Amino acid sequence: MSENFNDKVIWITGASSGIGEALAYAFSTAGAKLILSSRRVEELERVRNTCSNVEQVKILPLDLLDASSLGARTAAAIACFGHIDIMIHNGGISQRSLIIETDIEIHRKVMELDYFSYIIITKALLPHFVQRKSGHFVVMSSVMGKIGTPMRSAYAAAKHALHGYFDCLRAEVSPMNIKVTLLTPGYIQTNVARNAVTKDGKPLGIVSQNIASGLPANEAAKQILKAISKGTYESYIGKFGSEKIALWLNRFLPVVVIKKAPGLAPK
Ligand SMILES: NC(=O)c1ccc[n+]([C@@H]2O[C@H](COP(=O)([O-])OP(=O)(O)OC[C@H]3O[C@@H](n4cnc5c(N)ncnc54)[C@H](OP(=O)(O)O)[C@@H]3O)[C@@H](O)[C@H]2O)c1
Repeated sequence: MSENFNDKVIWITGASSGIGEALAYAFSTAGAKLILSSRRVEELERVRNTCSNVEQVKILPLDLLDASSLGARTAAAIACFGHIDIMIHNGGISQRSLIIETDIEIHRKVMELDYFSYIIITKALLPHFVQRKSGHFVVMSSVMGKIGTPMRSAYAAAKHALHGYFDCLRAEVSPMNIKVTLLTPGYIQTNVARNAVTKDGKPLGIVSQNIASGLPANEAAKQILKAISKGTYESYIGKFGSEKIALWLNRFLPVVVIKKAPGLAPK
């Protein structure tokens, strides 16, 4: 059965590409009203024009690294349709570089984008959810939010931090009918590897084999809509492959993950 998000107002960051783009199409088909955010307005317009219900889709450009603007952007998002039902924290960047070579500024940038921007928007939106006694935060973590493999220290640290923060938030707000769902995707076919930041800040610029053979983004979107409609606390998204096995092993036999971790590094 396909999920029904009829007239739900959903704000998606990172909607210009990859998983966010696929979510825009899936939610639009499921009847939602959408607010699409990222930096590239032309790409957001392309996504809006491909949605099944263009009149119900608004564009709200933002830069998640511009921390001081995010409070006002959140107010503008609420004003788009008068309220927000579901916040999809999705925009972000990955990283590919050894710890010994990585500039501290890269760690700061990834943490600002993949962690602090999410909590700044959450803090700005939370009073709205509390006042409505309703709302759902959906947070795009990663398998890297649960385990650590070579070359992804900044990314894994930011994604792990999301689990700590949003697990605490869930414990605080679930009595107020506010939900929190953390998603831990494995390899999904998007530009995430191409855009990943390297030791000196330059993008990796290539698609890794693992990502190229990952789950197509539209299939990931279907799994995500299911997890959201069930209100799942935490959900793996992806193929049944090495990433899912690594999650299980990391929990019960972490020594195996450490020994095999170099093989999990991007190819
Ligand atoms: N693909 C995977 O295998 C995978 C696995 C686990 C988790 N994830 C997570 O999924 C999320 C989406 O990534 P993706 O795979 O769809 O990669 P993607 O195709 O590179 O999309 C990244 C999105 O983030 C936006 N973004 C980047 N920097 C931004 C900034 N400073 N301000 C605002 N928006 C910004 C980009 O839009 P603009 O360039 O237009 O700003 C784009 O829409 C990320 O959080 C990623 O960590 C992906």
